[in-house]
Amino acid sequence: MKLGTCYYPEHWPEAWWVDDARRMAETGLSQVRIGEFAWSRIEPEPGRFDWGWLDRAIDTLHAAGLEVILGTPTATPPKWLVDRMPDMVAIDAQGRPRGFGSRRHYCFSHAGYRAEAVRITRAVAERYGQHPAVVAWQTDNEYGCHDTVLSFSKAAAAGFRQWLAQRYGTVAALNAAWGNVFWSMDYGAFDEVDLPNLTVTEANPAHWLAFRRYSSDQVAAFNRAQVEVLREFSPGRDVVHNYMGFFTEFDHHAVAADLDVVGWDSYPLGFLDTFRFSEADKLAYARQGHPDIAAFHHDLYRGCTPGGRWSVLEQQPGPVNWARHNPAPLPGMVRLWTLEAMAHGAELVSYFRWRQFPQAQEQHHAGLLRPDNQPAPGLAEARQAADDIAALGPVGAPPKSVALVFAYDADWVTGIQPQGAGLSALWAAFDCYSALRELGLDIDIVPPGTALDGYALCVIPCLPIVPDALVDELKCFPGQIVIGPRTGSRTANFAIPEGLPPGALFPAKVARVESLRPGLEHGGAGWAIARWLEHLETAAEPELVADDGTVASWRHGNRRYLGAWPDRALALTLLGRAAADAGLATHRLPEGLRLRRAGSRLFALNYAAQVVDLPATVTGTALLGGPRLAPGGVTVLDEG
Ligand code: GAL
Repeated sequence: MKLGTCYYPEHWPEAWWVDDARRMAETGLSQVRIGEFAWSRIEPEPGRFDWGWLDRAIDTLHAAGLEVILGTPTATPPKWLVDRMPDMVAIDAQGRPRGFGSRRHYCFSHAGYRAEAVRITRAVAERYGQHPAVVAWQTDNEYGCHDTVLSFSKAAAAGFRQWLAQRYGTVAALNAAWGNVFWSMDYGAFDEVDLPNLTVTEANPAHWLAFRRYSSDQVAAFNRAQVEVLREFSPGRDVVHNYMGFFTEFDHHAVAADLDVVGWDSYPLGFLDTFRFSEADKLAYARQGHPDIAAFHHDLYRGCTPGGRWSVLEQQPGPVNWARHNPAPLPGMVRLWTLEAMAHGAELVSYFRWRQFPQAQEQHHAGLLRPDNQPAPGLAEARQAADDIAALGPVGAPPKSVALVFAYDADWVTGIQPQGAGLSALWAAFDCYSALRELGLDIDIVPPGTALDGYALCVIPCLPIVPDALVDELKCFPGQIVIGPRTGSRTANFAIPEGLPPGALFPAKVARVESLRPGLEHGGAGWAIARWLEHLETAAEPELVADDGTVASWRHGNRRYLGAWPDRALALTLLGRAAADAGLATHRLPEGLRLRRAGSRLFALNYAAQVVDLPATVTGTALLGGPRLAPGGVTVLDEG
């Protein structure tokens, strides 16, 4: 695994560049990611390119032995372009244009902007496609950041109508598929279909789902247009994009089909503070991040390309600026996050950013260096991580143990029609993942339809739309299968299936569902049915039954069906049983300790704010650290 950093030579005096490059190399960094926001300096006026500075910046990095990941600058179209093409900006759900003055001010559906994005990509790729320093390209930056996948523009409306016509053929077919007879929503022509925003009350969920699919397709098409240019002018280089955390607005599996390596941007402390973790977790892990945040995304994004190639393109190196609270990481965490990425098979961890920038929006965002060019605490940890990586040598492949199935349209369905506050397929996946990790297991997160041979356990936390490929794959799967709530509960057109859920995956009919307000629970033996409950008609055997007789889960052969929400205690109980039946060894880990295997290496990572000891069940020859882990400590064992 390599280390790198995100660098913006255009922010700093040219006289500093040589020294910057030297210090990067001395720190043990070998890749530098540049250029992704530099359009206004590359092309200050339409058609007038200023390559001189970028030539010199790339040559300076190259001379220091550094490799370059060059970004296409399409996340920041310059002012002159927006002024020439004012309708290229996205329109928000309230119908307001999203203005110039930050970034991502473009609409994915706008053909004129897409052509401009291809033009600037081509210009940069023609210039640097064969440069010996350039080893990879990053398309754009964080598709969808700042809520930019959905745009309610005229371009989007026109594109959506065409997309519908292609998908449904006739408007009668669309009316039937969506159930538009309800509330007299029938259309007479595709041109009559508006976007689903600004309706009096909720629009038809089928309408929303179609629009989400359409919008996701535009992201994939926008990306593909750049990839094609990069492949033409820079063959043999990797094309990557940097995905975000807890973000499902577009289908990341579909976009990844055009990438060589999936990258993602890891900000464990910012994510902990921003997303739906309990107040207790937010406090306990304030300086470490919840122990499953980074790992969940490592495993999710590793599963996005068939080759499993992935990287951390931005790694939090200190406090960030954008969460509600932005604490500094505990000493050791920058190193821990880095080594954890290694344990999950990353090719690169690149710290964001090299030096804190004293102006503009991210003044409080740490870098490896302070604005006065002195080292920030992250720098020494990066150096330490580089030494550890060198000492450990290459780690082996991730083991095949548990496959957890996740699809992006699952989260669209639960988002469009949650039926109860906070019930989302993404968080069901995260909670199951977290429970499996608490049991000390290794997990791959895979799209439905992935070949499952070699896995001992398959967990489907919440998959409303079940593709036939998954049904077929599971027919001959000899391992244990756990199927979670709402699975098989919708057709591709957002209707309850004729035979009632869950369909082919489990011999039952979900006769009724209910969502439960906090406190309305059915307690069991150390677990509770909370938030969501399904009542099944089935001959399958009830397994987990609450004290009042309410059934939480059923068994049939090697399959289990969970009719309640996979909250922590329930998920731990059910998945623990399934893991035991699958023959997987589990552990009772102290709070905050996590394990991950890579080949014969076992990484133990202490996310707790206190010292923890490895349980006696975890054995091997120590290659790094020992049986007692300080907060932020990492131990690596060879299991032989
Ligand atoms: C990412 C983004 C970077 C920077 C960073 C700050 O979302 O890609 O450009 O803004 O966040 O944490």
